[in-house]
Amino acid sequence: MLLVENHPLDALNTFGIAASARFYVEAETEEECRAVLQSELADRYPVVILGGGSNVIFAGDLDALVIRPCLRGIRLLEEQGDTVIIEAMVGEVWHEFVRHCLQQGWYGLENLSLIPGSVGAAPIQNIGAYGVEVTDVFHSLTAINIETGEACEFAHEDCRFAYRDSVFKQEARDRFLITRVRFRLSRQPSLYMAYGDIRNELAAEGIADPTPLQLSDAIIAIRQRKLPNPAVLGNAGSFFKNPVIPHAQFDALKAAFPDVVAYPQEQGVKLAAGWLIEQAGWKGRALGPVGAYEKQALVLVNLGGACGADVLKVARAIQSDVNKRFGVDLEMEPRVYGDEPAD
Ligand code: FAD
Ligand code: EPU
Repeated sequence: MLLVENHPLDALNTFGIAASARFYVEAETEEECRAVLQSELADRYPVVILGGGSNVIFAGDLDALVIRPCLRGIRLLEEQGDTVIIEAMVGEVWHEFVRHCLQQGWYGLENLSLIPGSVGAAPIQNIGAYGVEVTDVFHSLTAINIETGEACEFAHEDCRFAYRDSVFKQEARDRFLITRVRFRLSRQPSLYMAYGDIRNELAAEGIADPTPLQLSDAIIAIRQRKLPNPAVLGNAGSFFKNPVIPHAQFDALKAAFPDVVAYPQEQGVKLAAGWLIEQAGWKGRALGPVGAYEKQALVLVNLGGACGADVLKVARAIQSDVNKRFGVDLEMEPRVYGDEPAD
């Protein structure tokens, strides 16, 4: 187990924000995770769990015990007909896990290709892309209760998945360190290709009837074109959730802005936050070292040397402008840790 005092987190968050952790631990096994959670340090400092750092913003230094679970391993647990239950340890890199499953002939994760981060964070915000979310393939997970050190099992219904949400962002927030996640996949491909972007990409490649691997490749190509690569331009993916508003509010908005990009839901209407931000004049615009990406206004980018306060300043300016123009509130997607330094 690696334990370091005053450890830099600059390379451990995809936005590339310079910050440090009072204590930083890399734990390789469930026993090591439990031991550090039961240690004196965990009594004295707040515990922060860090995966790949692709959905966090550090507002300042973290006066905390930062634990990075680095548990590795993927195995086939159960097989029934075409259905397979696959267990992955949380330190596995999500995209590598997706590609490994495809190579083994375990299908269902194709549309979630190239999402950055770890397996362990995937259930936290119920990651999703191109019409598929973790909830569609999730079986169950094992976690350690941070307070008591007990192992706990979460079945699908316990996780209360919703759009970019789960129990781990609500009542169970900061209470569990997830160690293993199990997925229900299939040996029989059942590809979801309703999104226009996917159909266009496959058509451009002249593929009429793709294999799961070809669909994954197409998703990768779309994402590489649209989203900035954090290794080149720091970012945390979509900075805000797409807001869902009541039908009556949508009708009024549509009357005032007939071009508004929207998707009807069971309850309410989901708006494309990228459209709202672009219309509010932010696409490609920056305030200091942080701006809205020129190809996708929903993604904030680090133009060089941004600190947490720079990011939050732009986020608040965008929220304010979108609210003034459209009367819609944007909720941040990444989790903010640490306090902004006082002026
Ligand atoms: P981190 O950022 O390290 O942590 C995120 C949260 O999860 C934190 O609160 C952390 O405490 C908690 N956490 C992490 N691991 C554990 C654990 N083992 N136990 C308990 N809590 C834990 N997201 C999507 O949904 N869809 C997308 O299409 C998408 N595209 C993206 C594209 C880019 C370029 C980037 C940079 C991000 C994108 N994201 C997307 C967001 C991000 O990739 C996901 O939220 C991802 O699941 C975060 O994984 P992580 O390991 O980096 O988590
Ligand atoms: N749009 C604009 N201007 C922009 C950006 C978008 O007008 O600058 C409009 C366009 O009409 C476009 C629509 O918004 O067609 C939707 O944009 P896009 O297809 O890029 O998807 P998104 O809604 O912005 C969501 C997720 C992404 C996910 C993609 C693909 C959220 C918050 N974001 O983005 O997830 O990869 O769909 O399914 O739900 C993430 O969560 O970090 C993330 C990247």
